[in-house]
Amino acid sequence: MKTLILFSSRDGQTREIAAFIANALREEHGIDSDVINLARGEAMSWPGYDRVLIGASIRYGHFDPALLKFVKQHLAALQARHSGFFSVNLTARKPEKRTPQTNAYTRKFLLNSPWQPDACAVFAGALRYPRYGWFDRFMIQLIMRMTGGETDTTKEVEYTDWSQVSRFAQEFAQLTSKTS
Ligand SMILES: Cc1cc2nc3c(=O)[nH]c(=O)nc-3n(C[C@H](O)[C@H](O)[C@H](O)COP(=O)(O)O)c2cc1C
Repeated sequence: MKTLILFSSRDGQTREIAAFIANALREEHGIDSDVINLARGEAMSWPGYDRVLIGASIRYGHFDPALLKFVKQHLAALQARHSGFFSVNLTARKPEKRTPQTNAYTRKFLLNSPWQPDACAVFAGALRYPRYGWFDRFMIQLIMRMTGGETDTTKEVEYTDWSQVSRFAQEFAQLTSKTS
């Protein structure tokens, strides 16, 4: 039995976190995973997976609508397995906004989602000004100015706390299988 790790990522940070968790599961717990882009997960074949983890990032206040669509479409399969969810955003660079209860995007998702994961985490993402188009760069700089963040558009800053990601991988690994 394998673990399925699905990611919804625009700029790659959520994909990187998903790959890091897959690596931690394999190296520390002997658990094999498939890491798949959620956008390509519509025709998923679920047998063979005994647990599932979904990670998704925030852009302009929202998860990709494909996330909730996927959850609704695959609800029975998600509910039949031990499952986890993590969200990635820049609001979470502030430690007090880095829990499912204190991170507004995550709290709202959990309130609206028919799927309730067994484990949930919020991770700070990355700010990579040079990689954005001019409009996104301008908008993010505006948001950073309003919220006391980095405004130097030549900078790339990774806020992800990798030891927090490791702890979450451990918590997720310790969920015992529902299907075995
Ligand atoms: C255009 C754009 C809009 C964003 N909007 C938000 C936002 O509304 N709230 C927030 O906390 N972070 C926001 N972020 C930060 C992203 O969530 C963060 O960069 C994250 O690492 C992106 O993950 P990804 O690389 O997997 O897409 C935004 C980033 C970009 C580039």
